[in-house]
Amino acid sequence: MSVLKNVAIVGAGTIGSSWGVFFASKGCKVNAYESLPEIREKILDRVDGGLRFLAENGLMAENEVESSFKRVRIVNSVSEALEDVEYVQESTTEDYDVKKSIFREMDAVANSDVILASSSSGLLMSEIQKATQRPERCIIAHPFNPPHIVRLVEIVRGEKTSQETVEATRRFMGGLGKTPVILNKEVPGHIANRLAAALWREAIDLVENDVASVEDVDKALCAGPGIRWALMGSHLTYHLGGGEGGLEGFIDTIAKKGFTPIWEDMKTWTSISGSAKSKLAEGIKREIEGKSLAELAQWRDDKLVKLLKVIYE
Ligand SMILES: NC(=O)c1ccc[n+]([C@@H]2O[C@H](COP(=O)([O-])OP(=O)(O)OC[C@H]3O[C@@H](n4cnc5c(N)ncnc54)[C@H](O)[C@@H]3O)[C@@H](O)[C@H]2O)c1
Repeated sequence: MSVLKNVAIVGAGTIGSSWGVFFASKGCKVNAYESLPEIREKILDRVDGGLRFLAENGLMAENEVESSFKRVRIVNSVSEALEDVEYVQESTTEDYDVKKSIFREMDAVANSDVILASSSSGLLMSEIQKATQRPERCIIAHPFNPPHIVRLVEIVRGEKTSQETVEATRRFMGGLGKTPVILNKEVPGHIANRLAAALWREAIDLVENDVASVEDVDKALCAGPGIRWALMGSHLTYHLGGGEGGLEGFIDTIAKKGFTPIWEDMKTWTSISGSAKSKLAEGIKREIEGKSLAELAQWRDDKLVKLLKVIYE
């Protein structure tokens, strides 16, 4: 079952509706359920906009937009959403009570072989699956925003998730063109958000300590390591940096002399101070030069699709 064709999205806010675009663009039939009427009535517009964006940027064929759009059906209940589907992507509000309640409801109506996947960024599946009778088919499939453009999906098992569910989710996501990574155990923030959190703490600290402005810290990240990170992660980057000695050589020489003093100098605080927050707020105003959030998001997405083509084609 590498490519399942019938999926449900449950919760269709920022992430759920983007998953809807993604699944529809890849040929899946999508049942979309959202509890808030005012969000529910926006789903089809969001899907239409997302599909057109993909087509305009060469990420799907123009002549498939209409047929993909028609594969999305808005439904009025969880049980209707889960009728005849093989995979469910849950993207409701990030809260244990909400997740447990929706997983309990989904578990009660889904056929026994349906995978129930959550987009949760930070909650543990071991906790959520306690609400179900069949915890073995419950899993986290955490996307990066927006899932119809960014390829990463982090697959995280709970204590009771079966290996079969992990494998089937990985095959499904890989078969649709995502880049799945598997976590062998649960940790808050999975992989990518932990890396992002570690880096952001340091970026904040540099501003807080007046080492550099918000704008220059962002610039240093994007113009230097960021551009390389789109191609190679830290481990492979330093394997190359180690010359003939590779990563081990790098650890024995450059890391010891160059990185240890940096790590020794770094802070380990766990919440952002009021003064750092004020400096960041001031700095970001200068960085964006009056551009609106919509303008910035459009600029980002236009560039992102071009980058994706360079990286994956
Ligand atoms: N926003 C991000 O950048 C991001 C990235 C990756 C993963 N996530 C995860 O995705 C999930 C959704 O996040 P979001 O940013 O899309 O939030 P959101 O608030 O935009 O959307 C959540 C939607 O779920 C709906 N909802 C709540 N309870 C429901 C229920 N019982 N049945 C059906 N619909 C229900 C809400 O009405 C809302 O429209 C969260 O678990 C979050 O951690 C978010």
